[in-house]
Amino acid sequence: MGLKRVGILTGGGDCSGLNAVIRAVTRSAIIEHEAEVVGIEDGFDGLIFDRHRMLSIADTKEILPLGGTILGTTNKGHPFEYREFDKEGRVTIRDYSKQTIENFKKLKLDCLFVVGGDGTLQIAHRFCELGLPVIGIPKTIDNDLVGTDYTFGYQTAVQVACDALDRLHTTGESHQRVMILEVMGRDAGWIALEAGIAGRAHAILIPEIPYQLEKVLEKIHLRKEGGSPFSIIVIAEGAKEIGKDAITSESASNRLQGVAQLGGVGFYVAHEIGERIDLEVRCTVLGHTQRGGTPLAFDRVLGTRLGTEAVQAAAEEKFGNMVALQGREIILVPLKSLAGIVRQVPLDSQLIRTAESIGVCLGR
Ligand code: F6P
Repeated sequence: MGLKRVGILTGGGDCSGLNAVIRAVTRSAIIEHEAEVVGIEDGFDGLIFDRHRMLSIADTKEILPLGGTILGTTNKGHPFEYREFDKEGRVTIRDYSKQTIENFKKLKLDCLFVVGGDGTLQIAHRFCELGLPVIGIPKTIDNDLVGTDYTFGYQTAVQVACDALDRLHTTGESHQRVMILEVMGRDAGWIALEAGIAGRAHAILIPEIPYQLEKVLEKIHLRKEGGSPFSIIVIAEGAKEIGKDAITSESASNRLQGVAQLGGVGFYVAHEIGERIDLEVRCTVLGHTQRGGTPLAFDRVLGTRLGTEAVQAAAEEKFGNMVALQGREIILVPLKSLAGIVRQVPLDSQLIRTAESIGVCLGR
C-alpha cells in the first residue's frame, strides 16, 4: 500500500514520554515513507469535532524532553458514550461514533496511531472492529497494561516518587516523625512498590494487598524501640484497608469521566496512626507531579522505539495491534487481548518477595 497520510492522537491522562512518541511517529513516517502526518487534537475529541493540524519534522524539533503532549489530551471524550452535563448538572450520554468515522474518512488516513491507556486503547479496538485502520501505542504511569512489560511514563513517575521519599527521609529523621507519601496507582501498586524499594520506605501499601493498620503500627513501634523513632510509609492511592473500599475524593457520577477520583488514603492512614502512637505524623500527596515534567532517558527511548515500530507495523498493514515491550523487543499484541484487564502486581512476584525479605512491611 505505502503510507501516504497517517494520523496520531493522544488520549486519556497524560504522562512523560508522549512527545517522544509523537516525534518518532512524525519523523519516521516522513523520513521512511514520505507520508503526511496529521496531529489530531485533544484525544478522540479532535476526531469527533474535527480539530487537527499537520505535523512536520520542524514541529517536533524541541519536544523530546518536554512533558505533556503537544497535541493535548482528555480523559472525558469517549466517542461511543460521550458524557455531557447540562446546566442543571444532569448527565446525558451521546454516541458520536458515526461522526468520528465520517471525520476519519474525510482526513483520508491510511492509519491512525492511538496513544493511550486501557480505556483509550479499548476505544481504538472498537473503531478497528468497525473497519478503521488503527494501531495502538500503550501509555500509563500506572504500568498496569497487559501485554507490555513497561509503559513509558512509569519510570519517570517512579523517579519522582523516589526523589520525594529521599527528601522525606531527611526531614522525617530530623523531626522523628512518621512521614507518609501518597502516590498514584488506581488498581496497581507498581509505582508505590518500586519507588518504596528504591526510596527506602519502611512500609509500602498497595491495592493488591489489603492492609492492616496494626501491622503498620507494629513496624513503627519496632523501629522506635530499635532506636529509629521515624518511619517512612508510601501508599498507592488505590490501597484499601482490609474489608474496606478504596477512598475516593469525588464520586464517579459527579465527574465527566464517569470514573471516581481516588485520593485521601494517605491522610486517612496518617490520622488513624496519629491516634494510636506518640509520634507526629505528616502526609504528602504527590499527585500529578508524577505525570508532569521531563521524561527520563528510559521513557524517551521507549517512546521513540514504540513510535517507530508503530509506523513500521502500519506500513505492513498490521492494524488492530498495539506495539509493546516484551523483554528487550518491541512486538505486536492484538488490541482485543487488552479487554479491560488490569495488570496488577502478582502476589507471588519477586518484587513483593524482595520488599518483604529486606524487612519492608506490606501491611500484612
Ligand atoms: O491512570 C493514571 C492515573 O494517573 C491514575 O493513577 C490516577 O488515578 C488518575 O490517572 C488521575 O486522573 P486525573 O488526571 O483525572 O485526576
